[in-house]
Amino acid sequence: MATVRLADYRPAPYLINRTDLTVRLFADHALVDARLAFSPNPGAADLPPQPLVLAGLNLQLEALAIDGIPHQPGAGELGDQGLCLNTPPQRPFELSNRVRIDPHSNTTLEGLYVSGGLFTTQCEAEGFRRITFHPDRPDLLSRFRVRIEADRDTAPVLLCNGNCIETGDLEDGRHYAIWDDPFPKPSYLFALVAGVLDEASDTFVTASGRTVKLRLHVEPGDLPYTAHAMASLQRAMRWDEQRYGLEYDLDEFNIVAVRHFNMGAMENKSLNIFNSKLVLADGETATDGELERIESVIAHEYYHNWTGNRITCRDWFQLSLKEGLTVFRDQSFSADRHGASLNRIDNVAMLRNTQFREDAGPTAHPVQPDAYQAIDNFYTTTIYEKGSEVIRMLHTLLGEETFMRAMALYVSRHDGSAATCDDFVQAMEDAAAEQPLGASFDFGQFRRWYHQAGTPVLEIQRHWDGERGELELHIRQHTPPTPGQPDKLPLVIPLVLGLVGQAGKALPLELATAEPATPATAPLPPAWGHHSRLVVIDRAETRLRCTGLPRQHHPPALSLLRQFSAPVKLTIGRPPAELVHLLAHDSDPVARWDAGQQLLRRALLARASGHVDGQLEDELVDALGRILADPSLSQASRATLLSLPGLAELEDAALEAGQAPDPPALFAAVMALQRHFGTALREPLLRLLDESRDQWPLAWPQGQGDRQLGGLVWRWGIAAGMESLMNEALQAVRGTSMTLARYGLAALQNHDRPQREAASAAFYERWQHKPVILDSWFALEASAPFGDGLARVSDLLEHPRYDPNAPNSVRAVLGGLASNAPMFHAADGSGYRFMALQIAALDQRNPITASRLAKVLSRWRSYGPERSAAMHDALVKLANATLSTNTREVVEQCLAD
Ligand code: BES
Ligand code: ZN
Repeated sequence: MATVRLADYRPAPYLINRTDLTVRLFADHALVDARLAFSPNPGAADLPPQPLVLAGLNLQLEALAIDGIPHQPGAGELGDQGLCLNTPPQRPFELSNRVRIDPHSNTTLEGLYVSGGLFTTQCEAEGFRRITFHPDRPDLLSRFRVRIEADRDTAPVLLCNGNCIETGDLEDGRHYAIWDDPFPKPSYLFALVAGVLDEASDTFVTASGRTVKLRLHVEPGDLPYTAHAMASLQRAMRWDEQRYGLEYDLDEFNIVAVRHFNMGAMENKSLNIFNSKLVLADGETATDGELERIESVIAHEYYHNWTGNRITCRDWFQLSLKEGLTVFRDQSFSADRHGASLNRIDNVAMLRNTQFREDAGPTAHPVQPDAYQAIDNFYTTTIYEKGSEVIRMLHTLLGEETFMRAMALYVSRHDGSAATCDDFVQAMEDAAAEQPLGASFDFGQFRRWYHQAGTPVLEIQRHWDGERGELELHIRQHTPPTPGQPDKLPLVIPLVLGLVGQAGKALPLELATAEPATPATAPLPPAWGHHSRLVVIDRAETRLRCTGLPRQHHPPALSLLRQFSAPVKLTIGRPPAELVHLLAHDSDPVARWDAGQQLLRRALLARASGHVDGQLEDELVDALGRILADPSLSQASRATLLSLPGLAELEDAALEAGQAPDPPALFAAVMALQRHFGTALREPLLRLLDESRDQWPLAWPQGQGDRQLGGLVWRWGIAAGMESLMNEALQAVRGTSMTLARYGLAALQNHDRPQREAASAAFYERWQHKPVILDSWFALEASAPFGDGLARVSDLLEHPRYDPNAPNSVRAVLGGLASNAPMFHAADGSGYRFMALQIAALDQRNPITASRLAKVLSRWRSYGPERSAAMHDALVKLANATLSTNTREVVEQCLAD
């Protein structure tokens, strides 16, 4: 397997001025004629002459010509990876060729493929080479003109990027459309769709008064489910104008929904293609969470038009340039729309349960990796979510105004070109240099965030001098070793902190001398919580002294990492009483939630290792009871403050406490704590349930906090055996709100009771003909923690409505299995073996989906000896199978010493 290295990057020897395609679609194959206008790249003039490499995969070459003169590829020119012209003309020339391809049997869902009768494409990252011979690298931008020909009956709708400039009829019931995209683009942004589609259309008038036609294309019958996506798109477009001053640049914008899709959605220029589960939705068919997710993904893909398309990536090592930045932008949009704090908490919970885990395992890599084998394996939570955190830190350090000036500078410098992560940071640095005081940190050091993998740890020790009212903090940072990176250097970490006094009031924070030098600190806008301070931690050790505090026996409670100001872990050992105080009073909602999470983690770890920390749980019951009774909190805030940490996070917490995580025991601990809380807090929970019911019928986003709280009460109450709630949850599954139905299913999920059976059957009955919705049923069934789980999963894989070629279904069942702790982590290793076999089989059909799934076996080292050996065995079995490059890379990373 070839490793691609950042250090080997060279500018392409030839530019492409035009890519002209004619794509003829037939009932069992497709023909693609391409004309590529090449010219020597002045940017590569200093390099020794290089061959011209045209990538091509699974293409049957039927004709090839250079400047119209037929060319017979000689020995060594045509291989299974493409075409290599060793002595191309040293002047502008045109290369034309025809290939035959087979979209109908393409189950990889890369390149051109057929999904439910619809021709569709997916070219990022390297799918274009499955359509025609092409350099297929992101730094080569060309103008595309595409003629599509197809049968008029089976493909009345013909779509491509840019503007449709001509349509017409052909013989034999066929027709054509010609599309021209005025914006030069890399090949990964190419898209083409042909088939029978219904259309929902609307318009958007841009800030400068242009009218853009918006069209959503869906399978016939799905039009009733398009209103939410359309409204989301319009809101997203408005927001980008208002916040970033970025306007849409073409006269039309198309979104197509397809059932078979590896990812969530794709930002092809003016022709976004979406997994249909991220388009089709209303209150009856999608949950509140799904509606919000759809809104944010639509925004994300739309925002790529500037951060990704107008400014693209020089090479795939720069992937986070577009993905991290665009995640940051879609998160800001969702925060503006739904409230910054709860949104931030959701994102932090997700970061901890996915990215921190990745950073601590064998597939850990930096935000800007420097080598890969299969680029598809690097669409990771590190590139996306950590990449976004890095940008968020720049925003925190520079402030909104400077950040926005830097963004404008970045856009104006790089519009129309392919850029690097460093270009982005440079724009930030240059904008910061124009501030009166310059930046408060060293950008060179900040850049380490892009190159160092692993989650940094801040270890904090305190010394409290009650007589003088002085608090000293001793802060040490270190980043644990990750594969290939044994030693790490100190990073620039923005730490936002505050103090909460005995009466629950924020204390003003005076930072006095510190050793060895005073770190830069700054007061923050009120959104950061009362009396918050930003401290820039940039050395291995920092000492801070806070003076002028009340002279009292106990130190004030220390609120740290407000708004989760940096993607780091803390070790500080705050006693439960202090965390309880913060959970009750911290004015920063994120730190407040986090205090609760730490208490909950401790209680759960104690239960998982076989003893109940009664005192801690009593304190928790009191604290949660006060939250339930606190009139200043919204239902959504209550539900969020009470939500239990995820299993992945608990596994990490166990590891940090020096124990081998035991997932079934952790799962049982969660169930037991739910039961305990359900019993101990029965009265207030039922009272709030009564209060929330009235709001349940309100349409999203209204009423969502009430529904969320209702779901939580069901979960805890049902765990505590409350029959009436079981019946209410079952009723909800039969009702008209998908949110309540799914909360009902989730609440009943882990209990082998007749209501669960009935709910599952009712849900299946009702939705069996809607594949997108039925996937959630597949996931629930696969994760039911009782009975013969593997037999049930096997049956699901044979189920008549299970589609092995739809990644959504595969992820529902196999992802459901992986999230089923008692079954997947069964001590005899049966869950791991089953999974390995399934991954090997899936890999034959769809390597991208298989290699992503293979990561569920990556944490084998972290378990106790028995599980560790069993998971390792499963990996070895997988390694002995015939595997794609994608899956092999992941498996080998997992097995590497
Ligand atoms: N560019 C990606 C889609 C993509 C990823 C295509 C990998 C091919 C390979 C797109 O912008 C994206 O990031 N989609 C996310 C959703 C987003 C909201 C984070 C996805 O598909 O999961
Ligand atoms: Zn993206």
